Amino acid sequence: MSALPVILDMDFGIDDSMAALYLARSGRAEIVAVGSVHGNTSSAQAARNARQVLAELGLGSVPVALGRAAPLNQPASYASEVHGDDGIGDMASVSEPPGMLVDESAAEQIVRLARDRPGELTLLATGPLTNVAVALAIEPALGSLLRSVVIMGGAIGVPGNMEAHAEANIRHDPEAADQVFAALENVTLVPLDFTMLCRITQGEIDRIWSAPHTAAADLVRGMLPRYLEFNRRDLGVVGFPLHDPAAAVLALDAGFAECLEAPVVVELTGTATRGMTCVDRRPVASAVSRPTVRIAMRPLRPVVDEFVRVAFEAGSQD
Ligand code: BDR
Ligand code: CA
Repeated sequence: MSALPVILDMDFGIDDSMAALYLARSGRAEIVAVGSVHGNTSSAQAARNARQVLAELGLGSVPVALGRAAPLNQPASYASEVHGDDGIGDMASVSEPPGMLVDESAAEQIVRLARDRPGELTLLATGPLTNVAVALAIEPALGSLLRSVVIMGGAIGVPGNMEAHAEANIRHDPEAADQVFAALENVTLVPLDFTMLCRITQGEIDRIWSAPHTAAADLVRGMLPRYLEFNRRDLGVVGFPLHDPAAAVLALDAGFAECLEAPVVVELTGTATRGMTCVDRRPVASAVSRPTVRIAMRPLRPVVDEFVRVAFEAGSQD
């Protein structure tokens, strides 16, 4: 089977790093390029984190483009309480990471690659959708130039995580997300409804700690105490949900999810609901004229086992 060429657009935090580790270790993905975006940390720090993780994966020649530093219509804010000040649980290297920071922006890189390789590339976006919205403004036909777009974000029928009704990636840039759902085709959305059902518990934590040592696995393992502590202290749970890694699993194999197909609208004006992802689930024809989004609602196969096995246990060389 040939490897799926993938562009990553990430606010390179702890679970974004886990998603990159999974894809790289799967042998089924070719990471073609990476773009950074604000969210878990600054876009500049996310680009450094990307280069550090890629270098440990032996992928130091993958181009990394700096993405948007701020949302379209609100100030930037970072999830330091979840991912640490550096976005990766205090594991960021003090020295400048190796690797390639390219001249073009993350949005320009997406558009250029999509135009160069029409119908071939999958875009995996696991941060706020600012770069994707900008790319769409540059190239309105972006959806038909990409093979598929997989987005981690939203909360359809479950509570939000950043706010009562809003998931973090969408809440960090509601306007960008709404523009993306209004116009981009070929989108699979992986919301909290799905990722909260993909929970790493004590058994998987034990498997991760006893898995073979490799440079990249050790780097990602080093990020986990911070993440585990946040989940234990603030959410009262042992372990953590697999947000971005679940989206990476679905990017490689859609058969892991049962999906709902519907247009998505993002609430932009509500004082209590800004950033809410709204889907009309009534048994009536949708009045919303937007592209249909495939929304992953329930795992059909064990996503958590797939992730732990591929990212940490299978093989031992990076
Ligand atoms: C999403 O928000 C970020 O903190 C995570 O990296 C993930 O992409 C989960 O809501
Ligand atoms: Ca993320």
